[in-house]
Amino acid sequence: MPLSTISLHDKEFSPYLSANELSTAIRLLAQRLNEEYANRQPLFVAVLNGSFMFAADLLKEITIPCEITFIRVASYEGTGSTGHIQQVLGLREEVKERHVVLLEDIVDTGNTMQLLLEQFNKQEPASLEVATLFMKPECLLHDLHIRYVGLSIPNDFIVGYGLDYDGLGRNYPDVYKAV
Ligand code: IMP
Ligand code: MG
Repeated sequence: MPLSTISLHDKEFSPYLSANELSTAIRLLAQRLNEEYANRQPLFVAVLNGSFMFAADLLKEITIPCEITFIRVASYEGTGSTGHIQQVLGLREEVKERHVVLLEDIVDTGNTMQLLLEQFNKQEPASLEVATLFMKPECLLHDLHIRYVGLSIPNDFIVGYGLDYDGLGRNYPDVYKAV
């Protein structure tokens, strides 16, 4: 049965990428990771909340020894002129000398990933790469090298498969875009 439009808060979203298309992209990412991280026992670090479905489905396709852990990026208003400050929460694992792969749902402006890469690099990992399910290349404001990209998409606002619009929409297995 074809998927229909969904409403979340005040907006309508139409079907954009099917669960099948997502799983094909994720399988391809997993194949590359299985080859490139064989014998390196990577530490996957999933950025909550958005990456929970992606991380779960990706890890089911990883066939090499690996670990996974979860972090959050908290935003709060800083004092004075600094404005928006972001902080990494929840990392307990030792990152030094580990092969770290950050798992993100989507890289949009790249602000979040820029901060995460800075924070992780300070801890001297053996290597540090990013695997993101979605990327909006037109929106990128930083010179970031994202090695593993599932799907590059135009500048549309999407929901589903972990991604939300103001808290809603994370539960859908398919991805929808704002109409
Ligand atoms: P960035 O810091 O601008 O790269 O944005 C990253 C975060 O913004 C992502 O982790 C998402 O939480 C959110 N985001 C960016 N684009 C979208 C979208 O199209 N749908 C839902 N969330 C998005
Ligand atoms: Mg997110």
